[in-house]
Amino acid sequence: MPETLRFAVYPTPELAIRAAADLFTALAPQTVALAGGNTPKELYGLLASDDYRDRTDWHELEIYYGDERAVPPNHPDSNYGMSRRSLLDLVPIQPDSVYRMEADDADLEAAADRYAQLLPQHLDLVLLGMGTDGHTASLFPGDEACDEHERRAAPATAPNGARRMTLTFPTLNSARHVIFLVLGADKRDALRQIRSGKQLPAGRVAPGRGDVTWIVDAAAYGDA
Ligand code: 6PG
Repeated sequence: MPETLRFAVYPTPELAIRAAADLFTALAPQTVALAGGNTPKELYGLLASDDYRDRTDWHELEIYYGDERAVPPNHPDSNYGMSRRSLLDLVPIQPDSVYRMEADDADLEAAADRYAQLLPQHLDLVLLGMGTDGHTASLFPGDEACDEHERRAAPATAPNGARRMTLTFPTLNSARHVIFLVLGADKRDALRQIRSGKQLPAGRVAPGRGDVTWIVDAAAYGDA
């Protein structure tokens, strides 16, 4: 875990999301891994909005994913599908610059190896969220995907047994910049554990030559 975790704490989720959009556009990344789940939906919507759309050169952007559920792209649980609806279908992205994780492939091991081949050596930016158990991407506490030291993408299993594909710590920790966006009181306990040094997966994201910025709201951060 990095010596000092940098938390930017905002009084409201809206202000935190706006800060994440400002940092995204300021970094002007060319290769980005998008986060899944619910929290990033509003961030994606803001990046696609009139206020922000022209601040990013979408034609130059390559889109990857931090993780994916083992569902087809049009399934309601698909991170790819969510990112299409809330961002990619609303901005001039090059169709062949979006690299979906084929986590619905019958041979998840082979699909993960194929995905690893597609990844740039260093992602410019990785967007991540955190679950209430301190997981990030699909790196769940106690799952063997957390012990991958060679593979850059790997199959994973969620606590409910659902199959996933995830970027591994070697890939996350070779990124140039990581932004965590974590909102809501239900994330407070895991965040407190990470702040106190507990080795939960989200706390193990520490790029050797990159930066990590935790953008959180006051509800998630709790008292100082
Ligand atoms: C996923 C995500 C996962 C997510 C956390 C937080 O596919 O579910 O990539 O790591 O970031 O579970 O999810 P919420 O934003 O929905 O709370």
